[in-house]
Amino acid sequence: MPKARISGMGVFIPEKVYDNAYFETIVDTSDEWITRRTGIKERHIAEPEDYTTDIASRAAQNALDNAGIKAEDIDLIILSTVTPDYFTPNCACVVQKNIGAVNAAAFDLNAACSSFITDMVTASQFIENGTYKNVLIVCADVLSKATDYKDRGTCILFGDAAGAAVLSAAEDGEGLISYELGADGAGCLNITQLAYREDAEETEKRVSGRKETVWMAGQSVMKFAVKAMADSSNRILEKAGLSYDDIKLVIPHQANYRIVDSAIKRMGIEKDKVYLHLEKQGNTSSSCIPVAIAEAAGKGLIERGDKVLIVGFGGGLTWGSAIFEY
Ligand code: COA
Repeated sequence: MPKARISGMGVFIPEKVYDNAYFETIVDTSDEWITRRTGIKERHIAEPEDYTTDIASRAAQNALDNAGIKAEDIDLIILSTVTPDYFTPNCACVVQKNIGAVNAAAFDLNAACSSFITDMVTASQFIENGTYKNVLIVCADVLSKATDYKDRGTCILFGDAAGAAVLSAAEDGEGLISYELGADGAGCLNITQLAYREDAEETEKRVSGRKETVWMAGQSVMKFAVKAMADSSNRILEKAGLSYDDIKLVIPHQANYRIVDSAIKRMGIEKDKVYLHLEKQGNTSSSCIPVAIAEAAGKGLIERGDKVLIVGFGGGLTWGSAIFEY
């Protein structure tokens, strides 16, 4: 059975930065509050003319270059976003056009911030069953377009970014070793962004009244996130017969330092096993994890053959975790 291994990674991070001092000028907040409650200092923000498919296409092209694979050799594109340019066409088709991946099937997959793990698990099925050789996964969000900049409880959290990975069929190595995907639909209204649905209560919750902006019940999400991330990680390790000692790096969804800190205490691991960039990038939804993998690899923190554990949670509510051989 072929294994699905990462053959290349690509990212796109916008240049413009909103630091905590900027938020002090637009809402009633302080650098001290934001730092203490979230760990975030800066977030990168896309230019107004840049949409999800624009930054997604740049990250996708970077991943192809990094993998040394031609666009025509991609068999499938899976794209994840909660800020699509259109309801139709899907964003994956737009990226297919932009990068010239003329032989690729293309669809979008939405598991919110848990999407990269969900994409990786989905892509691996197609590779392991022999259907496809090269699958391009792209996670991209311009959350700045879906942020209510009048709501101090959410606007300080989000940044824009895109991260992409090419998964390719390999005869050697282990590929995806263990994983779990989960959902708690009962908690679905804890994080919302509305499309066609008219809901007076949801509109009322938003300071600006813009129903397409992200709203969340912060405390409930925090409690869910800590348990979901820690317990899911522990379960997939046990399933694989591994321990944290076998894992080179744990890369969690980068939502809030306090969530990560509580989760790793529950996992029983030290901070130096965990990769974090949230201080510099904030929460970039599904892009957090692929961007973090690319950064960690670029810094030499993970090398070929190392086992990496990724774990995330998000709207839905969803969660996911995976152990793979880099
Ligand atoms: N600056 C100053 N005060 C703020 C503030 C800000 N930016 N945002 C909220 N507050 C205030 C609240 O109004 C509240 O004031 P009150 O006590 O007078 O009512 C107080 O701080 C506490 O608010 P609370 O929401 O309980 O704070 P918190 O400790 O839960 O932190 C979050 C808020 C949003 C940072 C935190 O809940 C969080 O990160 N949740 C998870 C969100 C997440 O991960 N979402 C991503 C899903 S992928």
